[in-house]
Amino acid sequence: DEIKIFCPATIANISCGFDVLGLALGTVGDVMVIRRGNSPGIRITRITGQEIPMDADKNVAGVAGMAMLKELEYQGGFEVEIHKKIKAGSGIGSSAASASGVVWGINHLLGNPCSEEQLVRFAMEGEKLASGTPHADNVAPAIYGGITLVRSSDPLDVVRIHAPAELFASVVHPQIEIKTSDSRKILRTSISLADGIRQWGNLGALIAGLFREDYDLIGRSLEDHIVEPIRSILIPGFDEIKRAAIAAGALGCGISGSGPSIFALSKGRETAVKVSESMSRVLTGIDLEHDTYVSEI
Ligand code: HSE
Repeated sequence: DEIKIFCPATIANISCGFDVLGLALGTVGDVMVIRRGNSPGIRITRITGQEIPMDADKNVAGVAGMAMLKELEYQGGFEVEIHKKIKAGSGIGSSAASASGVVWGINHLLGNPCSEEQLVRFAMEGEKLASGTPHADNVAPAIYGGITLVRSSDPLDVVRIHAPAELFASVVHPQIEIKTSDSRKILRTSISLADGIRQWGNLGALIAGLFREDYDLIGRSLEDHIVEPIRSILIPGFDEIKRAAIAAGALGCGISGSGPSIFALSKGRETAVKVSESMSRVLTGIDLEHDTYVSEI
């Protein structure tokens, strides 16, 4: 009665889909071990890779797991080990990986009583603890896998989006700290009709491009004229990194979630590796320590 699971890192927004689109990285993520425990509730027994609270009330996995047990009126308990590979505050869904992993694992051990959509709702409770807002654009792809669109978060309505087989993501994570709450505060709360038109034109076309596996259309649609111009100011070298990614053959490039990580999408692994090397070179040039990832979706 134990399960060991891979909990994927995720890229929220994907440029034109602020707060609605997200994708899961197939090979970058944490590992969790979940087993039935002797006492009721959630007990975090071990955390490696990062300093985060062991107290279940203060831990995103603990909070998400307890929300699930409460709704199911489940009297038993579970022990949870979290092995973090994704750094907190990286912008690739560290809290979402833990919150979604725990509820996915418990669901499996209980014989899958909950739908994926229900699991997203429980995991959102963990996100609420982490960032103050219970957004679903990281936990939805973490649970469904691939690419998802959150059409509505209340009531929750998650749409699975086709992920073309040759689509690869490159990510660089510069070691600077940007809190999601801070990078939300700097955004304007209203946009012009002209900006809206541009954004939903791109979002609709991106979705069509993904389903049609039309890589050129995907590339043309990976634009964000609303959030990126404001948030990118917080990321040293952003414009240069983006230029380097496109020059190396990326379809598009933008901020991953609320940053500071920067992602690029490419057709084929070989191009994605070249793109990640070019992005990394820019950060090395400005002496900014960083991690680099390349992953299928
Ligand atoms: N959509 C959210 C934001 C994701 O960009 O603020 C945070 O990871």
